[in-house]
Amino acid sequence: MVQCWPTNAAVGIPIHPASPHTYPQRSGRGTVMRAAASPIAPLIRHRDASTPACRHLISATLNHLPDECPSMTPDALFSLNGKTALVTGGATGIGRMAAEGLMHAGARVLIASRKGEACEAVAAELNAIGCSGQAEGFAGDVSTEEGVNALAEAVNARCEALHILMNNAGTTWGAPLEEFPYKGFDRVFSVNVTGMFALTQRLLPLLRQAAHAEDPARIVNVGSVMGEIPMGDGAYSYAFSKSAVHQMTRILAKELAGDQITVNALAPGPFVSNMTAFATADENTRERVGDGVPVGRVGRAEDIAGSLQFLCGRGGSYVTGAVIPLSGGINVSTGPSIFERAREA
Ligand SMILES: NC(=O)c1ccc[n+]([C@@H]2O[C@H](COP(=O)([O-])OP(=O)(O)OC[C@H]3O[C@@H](n4cnc5c(N)ncnc54)[C@H](OP(=O)(O)O)[C@@H]3O)[C@@H](O)[C@H]2O)c1
Repeated sequence: MVQCWPTNAAVGIPIHPASPHTYPQRSGRGTVMRAAASPIAPLIRHRDASTPACRHLISATLNHLPDECPSMTPDALFSLNGKTALVTGGATGIGRMAAEGLMHAGARVLIASRKGEACEAVAAELNAIGCSGQAEGFAGDVSTEEGVNALAEAVNARCEALHILMNNAGTTWGAPLEEFPYKGFDRVFSVNVTGMFALTQRLLPLLRQAAHAEDPARIVNVGSVMGEIPMGDGAYSYAFSKSAVHQMTRILAKELAGDQITVNALAPGPFVSNMTAFATADENTRERVGDGVPVGRVGRAEDIAGSLQFLCGRGGSYVTGAVIPLSGGINVSTGPSIFERAREA
């Protein structure tokens, strides 16, 4: 191993990886772990490590790593090569954007929703793009206990370790306040909350198989900006369910951190999908929806892909319990300045 990593000419320190999973790191815990195997370890452990001279020595050593050093290249940070992901609801809308983004980073992506044939067809379309990842589609229903169990079994039959679980499947119900039906809660919560929790629970053994201190397993839940700010829009049970998703994310992040499983959520604003087709399918209405977003547009596939590649790559391994605002500023929109009227007067 040592001969693969040249002696640092400036300080005469050999650099060698401690294990296949412990790449030379320029910062963070990995530096100390890897450096612990090298002659700079005593300097790092010594209290003089805080002196400028020692910091310079360590920095000089780490900055002379060979060009092929994988630690901070975009590929090392965001590649998902060798990882297997499950995206529920991955045949349409945000799930499909996610599946494609994961595949472009090299992942094998399992796509599951109630319409198994649609999942198979989308997997075939995505495989035809010719990116480095692969896709497989099959049926899976997260709205019932039997459905969740069957889906977990189907995933178990396809892989021995699950590196990424994207809980994306979701549904909504809209009605005016006085008319909102009782069943509009059961239906929405069974998919958006109970199904998400139960599937995560059933897949924990597979996630633990993939979890590693250097590269944790990842759970990414799809919440919504409507779970963050008081925006009912007639979708009462939906908005409440998304707040529950965000809280589930934080609680599971806390409980699973020690298992090397990160749990984060995306809180999207408007994206083109079946769920929002009433407002985004037509170009004119889509533009009008975009005008209502502070950055002036609806979300794009690359917004989903970029967030996921960050959260699921090595570069995102230290982030857990976050609810990422993916809403073009809706999450920080407030009314006009409270003193504006006084200035006008
Ligand atoms: N689009 C937006 O503006 C927006 C904004 C914020 C959050 N979101 C969230 O993003 C996620 C994806 O929604 P989307 O907007 O992309 O809408 P979408 O195109 O309607 O996607 C929803 C997906 O969930 C699947 N699904 C629904 N019920 C299911 C069940 N019981 N079991 C398994 N899969 C099920 C659907 O597939 P099948 O019909 O085949 O089951 C579908 O592929 C949802 O969680 C949604 O709340 C969307």
